[in-house]
Amino acid sequence: MTDTASAVPAPIDPTETAAWRALDQHQDALTGSLREWFEADPQRAATLTHEAGDLHVDLSKNLITAETVDLLLDLAREVGLEERRDAMLAGAHINTSEDRAVLHTALRRPAGIEPALVVDGQDVDADVHEVLGRVRAFAQSVRSGAWTGVTGKRIETVVNIGIGGSDLGPVMVYEALKPYADAGSGSDAAAPLEARFISNIDPTDAYETTKDLDPETTLVIVASKTFTTLETITNARLVRTWLLDALRAQGVEFDEAEAVAKHFVAVSTALDKVADFGIDPKNAFGFWNWVGGRYSVDSAIGTVLAVVLGPDVFEELLAGFRTMDEHFATAPLAENVPVLMGMLNIWNVNFLEAETHAVLPYSQYLHRFPAYLQQLTMESNGKSVRWDGSLVSYDTGEVFWGEPGTNGQHAFYQLLHQGTRIIPADFIAFATPARPLRDGEQDVHELFLANFFAQSKALAFGKTREEVEAEGTTGALVPARMFSGDRPSTSIMAPALTPSVLGQLIALYEHITFVQGTVWGINSFDQWGVELGKQLASALAPAVAGDEAAIAAQDASTAELIRYYRAHRARD
Ligand code: F6P
Repeated sequence: MTDTASAVPAPIDPTETAAWRALDQHQDALTGSLREWFEADPQRAATLTHEAGDLHVDLSKNLITAETVDLLLDLAREVGLEERRDAMLAGAHINTSEDRAVLHTALRRPAGIEPALVVDGQDVDADVHEVLGRVRAFAQSVRSGAWTGVTGKRIETVVNIGIGGSDLGPVMVYEALKPYADAGSGSDAAAPLEARFISNIDPTDAYETTKDLDPETTLVIVASKTFTTLETITNARLVRTWLLDALRAQGVEFDEAEAVAKHFVAVSTALDKVADFGIDPKNAFGFWNWVGGRYSVDSAIGTVLAVVLGPDVFEELLAGFRTMDEHFATAPLAENVPVLMGMLNIWNVNFLEAETHAVLPYSQYLHRFPAYLQQLTMESNGKSVRWDGSLVSYDTGEVFWGEPGTNGQHAFYQLLHQGTRIIPADFIAFATPARPLRDGEQDVHELFLANFFAQSKALAFGKTREEVEAEGTTGALVPARMFSGDRPSTSIMAPALTPSVLGQLIALYEHITFVQGTVWGINSFDQWGVELGKQLASALAPAVAGDEAAIAAQDASTAELIRYYRAHRARD
C-alpha cells in the first residue's frame, strides 16, 4: 500500500530554461522545407512514426527535425514532466487551487493491482471497482428487462441530462460506438436501446429531445458531478414534469414517488443533493472530487454508455484508456506518443506561433470528437496564471476545433491550404470501416481514405509554380493555384474504431493536455474561468424579469439588450 499525497513543486518558467533558449536558436537556424527534408532523409517517416497501443502516429509531416524533437524532450525534462506525471499518477494534490488529487487514470486501473492505490487514506481501487460493479449490475438489469418503468414496460430509451463533462464525453462515445448499441438480452425489439442527450438550458433542447418519447419506456439519468449546475437541475425538473404529465396523459395511474424512482437515476459526487431531488440514493452512482468533469466519461458518468452499449463494451473502452496510461507512464520520452505530441504542440504554439489546432477525424462516427476535445483541452489549458499565482509571459492553450473529413474539405480546408495562418492539424483514420459499403466495384472506404491521405500530403508538400505551369496555367492564375506546403500535420491511424481504440484516443489527448499544461506551469484541472458568467447570470435574473432598478444598474449595453428582449418577447 502506498500513501502518496505530497507537496507540489513550484512551476518552472519554461522560457527561463536552457532548452527553451536552445529551441529559440534552433528555430532561427532552421532551414529547408518538408519537401527537402523528406528528400534528404529517406528514413524521415520511419524515424518520426511511433506506435502507442493500437495507434500508429506519424509526426513526420510536422515542421520538425530530429534536433527539434531532442530539444523539446530536453525542455520536458527541464520542467520536470516525468516527476509531475508520476506525482499525478500517484495521487499527489497537483490540482492545487482546489487541493485535490487528479486521478482520472485510477478509473481505469484493473481490479487487483498490487499495491493498491491509496490516496488520502482511501483505497481508490476498491472505491472505483465498487461503483463499476454497481454500474454494471444496473446496466444489466435494464438491458435484461429486469428493471422496468413504472408500468412494467422495458426501457427502450435512456435520456442523459448533463452538461460539459457530464454530457460531451457520453455523447461523443455513444456516437462513436453506435455500431455496438443493441437491444439488450431477451428483448424481441428490433431496434437497439437508444441514448438521447439534453444539455442546454435553452428549453428547446428538452422539448425536442422528449417530444416523441414514450414515458413508459424512458429512463432518465441525471448526470452532474456537483448536482448544482443550473442547466442540469433545471432540465431534470423539466423532464420530471414532462414524464409525469405524459404518463397521466396516457391514462396511467401511478404513485409519483414510485414513478420517479423507476424512471430517474443519478450520477454525482453529491449524493445528498441527489436525494433532495427525489432520486433514491440507492439508484445513484457516485464518483469523486479527484475526477475533473472533462476527465469523467470513464467514471459513472458513462452509465448511459454501459446501459445502451453494454457493460462489456464500456469495460473495453476503459481497457483502452489503460493501454494508453501504461504507455504514457512507462515509454521512454523519445517514444512516448502523448509526450511527443504534447511537446510538438508546444513547438507549434510557442515557437511557430500557431493559435489554433484542427482535429480532423476521417470517421463520421467521431463527429463529436472535436467538440469533446474542445472542453478537454480548452477548459484545461485556457489559463494565463501559473499554479503558484504568477502570470505567464508566453502563449498557452490553443483553440481546438474541427469537423470530420471529408465534410471539412468542402468548408474550411481552403484556409488550411492557402490561408495566411499556420494551423497544425491532426488527421485521424481507421483501416477497417464499421460499415464496409460498396458503390458498384468501388470500396467506398477506400475513396474516403484516399482523401485522408491526399489532404496531409497536399498540406505538407504543396504545389510549386513549376507544377502549376506544367498544367498549362499562366499569368495571375499561377499564384492563385500554388500551394506553399510546409503546413504541419500529424496522422493517427488505427486498425478500427473499436471501444478499446476509442479509449486509447481519448487518453492520448488527456495526456497531451497534461504535457502542455505542465510545460506552461498551469493547473490543467481547475476551471475558475467559467465561474464569473455563472454568477452574473444569476445576478441578472431580476433585470431579465423586468425589475427596472436592476436594469438601470447594468452597464448601458447590457441594459439596452435587456430592454430589447423585454420589448420583443412574445408570450401566449
Ligand atoms: O461550468 C463548467 C463545468 O464545471 C465543467 O467543468 C463541468 O464538466 C460542467 O460544468 C458540468 O458540471 P457538473 O457535472 O457538476 O454538472
